[in-house]
Amino acid sequence: MSTTFQLDTATSRANPTPQPMKRLTVPKIRARKTDGQEGEPLVMLTAYTARQAQLLDAHCDMLLVGDSLGQVIYGLPSTIPVTLDMMAAHAAAVVRGSYHAVVVVDLPFGAYEQSKEQAFASASKLLKESNAAAVKLEGGVAMAETVAFLSARGIPVMGHVGLTPQAVNSLGGYAARGRSDAEAAKIIGDAKALDEAGAFAIVLEGVVEPIAIAATAAVACPTIGIGASPRCDGQVLVTEDMLGMFERVPRFVKRYEDLASVISKAAETYAAEVRARSFPGPDQTYQPKD
Ligand code: KIV
Repeated sequence: MSTTFQLDTATSRANPTPQPMKRLTVPKIRARKTDGQEGEPLVMLTAYTARQAQLLDAHCDMLLVGDSLGQVIYGLPSTIPVTLDMMAAHAAAVVRGSYHAVVVVDLPFGAYEQSKEQAFASASKLLKESNAAAVKLEGGVAMAETVAFLSARGIPVMGHVGLTPQAVNSLGGYAARGRSDAEAAKIIGDAKALDEAGAFAIVLEGVVEPIAIAATAAVACPTIGIGASPRCDGQVLVTEDMLGMFERVPRFVKRYEDLASVISKAAETYAAEVRARSFPGPDQTYQPKD
């Protein structure tokens, strides 16, 4: 895909900056319901930095500033310690680095569950400080009233059901959901409640395939699968997982690259050259002008 980036030599690293152009919108994403059958599925990847957003933007319909940045960027043990300020700062960077995709930002744990008013205050702070287009929150029936409250007040909401990582302490781990009848009924009930409350899309994470298909058929908005089914209306992955930045990845991740090895090899070569005094060489060294 061609890019409309221009080199901006005013920045210290001559980063490409996007030319102004029309971004996709939430209503356009909402209209991309395919029922998992015909039509082009929605493409979403996580992004946490401006440069990452620049590289992913042209290929994606949506960029998700996921609270997975807690583990991926900050080395935290889970998403629980992630704060609203962390999300706002990374979301602003991703919006600055993108021109095409709808940017969705996660409401972190503790910033929205207490009341719909708390959720509005947190979501409006995120959108004001980052210029992102929408928020995502975890939970189904319990969050439906909040989703309706935000949606009616101009804040588009993406839902997230099935395996909800912010509930890891209640769920007892990150195993796939929907294997028992009770779990399956809960996932479909949660998805329906969010849909009726006005969510513009719903992430189905770690859901056994027949339940992901049933949930997709049960709602009018698009579903975005991660560890769910190719018959969802779209797919999302954590970018660092699909780039092979980590040794261990969940079964549902496909590695499209092995960047961990590329980076490690480059660092090994650099270290050897520094120790051998062969870097910097003449090309990287300034000499006085004659
Ligand atoms: O935080 C995140 O990256 C997410 C995706 C895994 C959907 O919520």
